[in-house]
Amino acid sequence: MCRTYSCLFWLAHFRANVLLTDLAEVIPLLQLNIKENEKVIAHHGGSVKASILRWGNKDPSINFIPDVVLLADCIYYKQSIDKLLETLDNITENDTRILMSQEMRESDVQKNCWEYFVKRASEKFSFNYVPLSVQNPEYRCPDIKLIELIKKEKTCY
Ligand SMILES: *[C@@H]1O[C@H](CO)[C@@H](O)[C@H](O)[C@H]1NC(C)=O
Ligand SMILES: *[C@@H]1O[C@H](CO)[C@@H](O)[C@H](O)[C@H]1NC(C)=O
Repeated sequence: MCRTYSCLFWLAHFRANVLLTDLAEVIPLLQLNIKENEKVIAHHGGSVKASILRWGNKDPSINFIPDVVLLADCIYYKQSIDKLLETLDNITENDTRILMSQEMRESDVQKNCWEYFVKRASEKFSFNYVPLSVQNPEYRCPDIKLIELIKKEKTCY
């Protein structure tokens, strides 16, 4: 679910099995990157795969519950938010670590999108904002929010 992938290649160096997902047109570029890094990643005992995922569509390649889900700059188009949340809800349990980073842009469209995301996501997830003071001093940025989403208990029917 990450739109910037270097962090995920880095994770594979720590023996993580990483699945990168994006829209179909981005996959060839991801495959190329995987090929370039294949040997190094295998040497460290991790793996990286790429797969098409259209939010809101059931994807047969995600037939497992990941330990960690990373979302980078995924909130930019209001019409996709409910679909993203449906997918996120389906592929997570209450103990899945979900980390998202999102640049806060000044445009009204972006602000509106973010407000809508917070409103809808809050129905299922609580927001734990990671304070700037505990982020890496070299890479942190006040315009980029880092948030841990924690899945709320399933409601009983
Ligand atoms: C989410 O799960 C529900 C219930 O199993 C299913 O009907 C729906 O298609 C799934 N949606 C996605 C996006 O995976
Ligand atoms: C997750 O939910 C199960 C049962 O619904 C509960 O027993 C468990 O303690 C929950 N785990 C966390 C991390 O909240």
